[in-house]
Amino acid sequence: MEVRCRAPGKIILAGEHAVVHGAAAIAASIDLYTEVHISLRPSGQEDELIELDLKDMGLNLSWPCSQLKEVLGDCSAHGSVLMSCTSEKLELLSGLVAQKNIPQENVQLNSGLYAFLFLYTSILGYKPGKTIVTSELPMGSGLGSSASFCVALSGALIALSEGFSLKIKEKKDQFSFEKNVLELVSKWAFEGERIVHGKPSGIDNTVSTFGNMIKFKKELKTTSSMTPLNSTTPLKMLITDTRVGRNTKSLVSSVSERALRHPDTMSSVFNAINSISDELALLVESPAADKAAVSEKEEKLMELMQMNQGLLQCIGVSHESIETVVRTTMKEKLVSKLTGAGGGGCVLTFVPTLLSAAVTEKVISELEKCGFRCFMVEVGGPG
Ligand code: PMV
Repeated sequence: MEVRCRAPGKIILAGEHAVVHGAAAIAASIDLYTEVHISLRPSGQEDELIELDLKDMGLNLSWPCSQLKEVLGDCSAHGSVLMSCTSEKLELLSGLVAQKNIPQENVQLNSGLYAFLFLYTSILGYKPGKTIVTSELPMGSGLGSSASFCVALSGALIALSEGFSLKIKEKKDQFSFEKNVLELVSKWAFEGERIVHGKPSGIDNTVSTFGNMIKFKKELKTTSSMTPLNSTTPLKMLITDTRVGRNTKSLVSSVSERALRHPDTMSSVFNAINSISDELALLVESPAADKAAVSEKEEKLMELMQMNQGLLQCIGVSHESIETVVRTTMKEKLVSKLTGAGGGGCVLTFVPTLLSAAVTEKVISELEKCGFRCFMVEVGGPG
């Protein structure tokens, strides 16, 4: 039995970081995907393996099922009971990954492997199988590559788990999960994200699972809330990958530390970002009947993005490379803001409907001269 499952990357239009502290954020899926293909092998053979083939990295890894069972024990097969990864289990997982001699400094890859082993063994137990992963998303650059991996992986594993595999057999080719199953996929992916990022808000796995555009709020005491938004006009973004690597976990902690040092000031900044997200949510859903109305709407959207970038700089998550993109695009009266954790990674530039192809090309060429990589994306789309 085999299953392919894909999940999109995302951009955050407003509210990153502040969302971890309870503010609203607006995120949307983009048309770049991670695909996970799992083929189960027959059980009861000798030398059963759980294999992982990370195609884009040319990395092929495998673990004997018997070794995984010996190290992780029986509890891992009861994922629905044991939803989250305990620190003891994380230690066991890190021991299993350490045997593969992946450089310690490649934190993203190492933690991605812990998440893989955790999700696989928790959802499917020790069933032998081969997992092949391919992705169109640059890794660790703010486009939600780890969440799209965790969502596609959880989706494929759930599809193969008892109870779901029969339904898949009936449908044969294409299969979409119902809402309650999607919620389960998102929950598992969140557990994977917790392993990769430590303290994620949940926005990345939510938008990657459900797609389109959402307003997301992590309630500090209760569960998070997600409202789908229907953008009345199509939104196009130029994405610039600065190619500057960064680590979401440490950027999120640096913001929390600053919030501890300056509680009142940082809380005012988070409130301001919350207002930007609220305003943006209303704006994207507001009707724009003619060209003039569309332009007015786009101007407002750019102002909100500009204010958000200013506040992100003020909380310390911008970077020289990000500021270079902001300045370069500003020469053509365009607005850019970082997306995701910042500190490098990707930057969004809003592309107004009436922007000429010549200006777009000029901007892209200027950015590429700085050593950046640019690509256009359509915002929103299925999860
Ligand atoms: O850079 P990314 O794709 O990991 O996005 C992180 C978004 C943050 O708001 C900074 C963290 C979070 O969990 O919401």
